[in-house]
Order: sequence, then structure tokens, then C-alpha cells
Amino acid sequence: MIYRLVYHSQSRISGSSAEVFRSILGIVKASRRNNARVGVTGALMFYDGAFSQVLEGDQAPVKEVFGWIRADQRHDRLSLLSFATTTERAFAKSAMAVIGTSEQDRERCNVVLAGKSYDPALMTTNELILTLQRLVDDSGGGDAPSAPMARPLMRAVGH
Ligand SMILES: Cc1cc2nc3c(=O)[nH]c(=O)nc-3n(C[C@H](O)[C@H](O)[C@H](O)COP(=O)(O)O)c2cc1C
Repeated sequence: MIYRLVYHSQSRISGSSAEVFRSILGIVKASRRNNARVGVTGALMFYDGAFSQVLEGDQAPVKEVFGWIRADQRHDRLSLLSFATTTERAFAKSAMAVIGTSEQDRERCNVVLAGKSYDPALMTTNELILTLQRLVDDSGGGDAPSAPMARPLMRAVGH
């Protein structure tokens, strides 16, 4: 049985956009390392100072990972949208797909969100999952080493 947990939160990461991106890169690296180890997949979106995240896997590891995330001082105002069983993973290819860490991502978000202001608190869980899936698919999906994340991110932080 697969469990899927969806929440959103407000980022507390401050600094220049390069510092913010670097900090998020650290989160993504830790996520991929830890999640792969415990069989959790998912997606993390950073947009307009808010995080939205989906975690999927067996119940115990999903709870364990969410326990770490909840205790993290880099965000606050966590709001749990859903924690329920599901038949299949929405982000099976990714220990943690990431959206919102490059200029390209921002442009894609603007297109997918079609100018609406993005407010995860006002989206249904399904709308949020579908939006994340669409953004992940548009960016090539997955998080294999060859996935497009690393280079755009490095460009975004000015290296
Ligand atoms: C918005 C957000 C999402 C995160 N997502 C994950 C995650 O999916 N998996 C994970 O292991 N850590 C995640 N973290 C980081 C954890 O809070 C914690 O820093 C990390 O698990 C520590 O790993 P380490 O001891 O291996 O460095 C997230 C943190 C934030 C702020």
C-alpha cells in the first residue's frame, strides 16, 4: 500500500537569490540521498516563497521523512493537506523532483499557472498534485544525474 502525503509551508530562507537557491540545492541533495535510501519518492516545488511537497512510499518511511521535515527551521507554517493511501505513485521516477530552482522553471511555472497567483492554500490537493506533475513532466521529469536540474540551477546561482 502506497501512502501519499502532501503539505505546503512558508520558506524562512533569506538572502540573495543565489543564497536561496544554494540553500534549496542543499535540501534537494539531502532529500534525494535520504529518500532513495528509504524508498520515498516525490516532488518539491518552491515558488513565491512557499514550498509544496509530495512524499510517497510505505507508511513508516513517509512518516519518518515528514518528521525530519517538520522539525526543519528553514520553513514554517506547515499545513498538512493530505495523508492517504493511493494505488500508484504520482512521482515514481524521482526520489525528489524539484521545481522552481531555475529561471526556466519560473517561466514554466508562469505558463502553467497562467498568470494566476499561486496560492497552495487555495488549491485542492488534486490540483496541486496535477500542477506539480505537469511542471515535473515539462522539465523532463525524474532526477537521474542527467536530468536538467543541475545545470539550470548552477546558471541561476551565477556559476
Ligand atoms: C521544504 C523542505 C523539504 C524537505 N524535504 C526533505 C525530504 O524529502 N527528504 C529529506 O530527507 N529531507 C528533506 N528536507 C530536509 C530535512 O528537513 C533534513 O534537513 C534532512 O533530512 C537532514 O538530512 P541529513 O541528516 O542527511 O543531512 C526538507 C527540508 C525542507 C525545508
